[in-house]
Amino acid sequence: MPAFSASAPGKTILFGEHAVVYGYPAIAVPLTNISMKIIVQPLLDNEKIHIVNVNLGENLFIEELEAENIYSYALETIMQSLKLNRLPPMQLTISSTIPVAAGLGSSAAFAVAITRAISGFLGFKLKAEELNQIAYAIEKKQHGTPSGIDNTVVCYQKPIYFKKNLPPFFLKLGKPLTLVLANSGIDSLTKEVVIDIKKKHDDDPLFIDHQFARIGNITDEAKICLEVGKLQGIGKLMLENHRCLKKMGLSLELLDDLVNAAIEAGAYGAKLCGGGRGGNVVALVPPDKSQAVLQAMLEAGAASCMVSLIKC
Ligand code: MEV
Repeated sequence: MPAFSASAPGKTILFGEHAVVYGYPAIAVPLTNISMKIIVQPLLDNEKIHIVNVNLGENLFIEELEAENIYSYALETIMQSLKLNRLPPMQLTISSTIPVAAGLGSSAAFAVAITRAISGFLGFKLKAEELNQIAYAIEKKQHGTPSGIDNTVVCYQKPIYFKKNLPPFFLKLGKPLTLVLANSGIDSLTKEVVIDIKKKHDDDPLFIDHQFARIGNITDEAKICLEVGKLQGIGKLMLENHRCLKKMGLSLELLDDLVNAAIEAGAYGAKLCGGGRGGNVVALVPPDKSQAVLQAMLEAGAASCMVSLIKC
């Protein structure tokens, strides 16, 4: 079997994170300027499955890991989904430019890239839906109760309007989007934040449901603005979405500072994205203001920033 390589992009959620876990709609776009790559190389028959994660400095043999480990779980899930009894000896080399624990889809990119890489190496030609389903099963292990939006946008690599347990609706953007992503440098694990929001929902369902319903309406309005290319409208709705997330305790002073800095520097709108409590702020900007907004967000305390273009 010849070596095989596959990759998957990052993502950002423009509208509806957290509410999407409870059945409300959300909108996400792929970030193709960052990605995870996995190369699969065959090993000799008497060798084992070897994993090299370049970014994490990991050099592991799968047989030596506990079954609960994410690599073991991913391989087991892929093996079962492809109805195989065993996987051949191989080396997986993983490298990524997607920051981890930053809300930009690194775990979804892992789930999609490893499924693509191993199935491709073994000669399977999976349909996108099949690949997405396997990736979702792997995501469940990493996230607990994911809505499925992350693996779906990463798998299809297109802007999506998404509701849990339904096929994605592919959005046709009226105008391209210029985004500035500002990393707060504060790690945040989505799984933990989702558990915390569940606790809040159990304690005060009325309040949280009210925020979710508001976010759902914002997302539906945003869908129309995105389709007709009403950039100012999208920006205003991003700010409203940020305020709802803040009310639920998902923002931080630094995230608010980054949102405000982006607006003062000319962004149409900005909000925290993904799990919250750290990670990234996404700003929608006029193309000629992208550098000014990026600079302002760095001055407001971002650890790093990047510009990402979402084509129509
Ligand atoms: C994480 O990118 C988005 C959340 O809504 C979780 C999920 O949808 O699985 C916070």
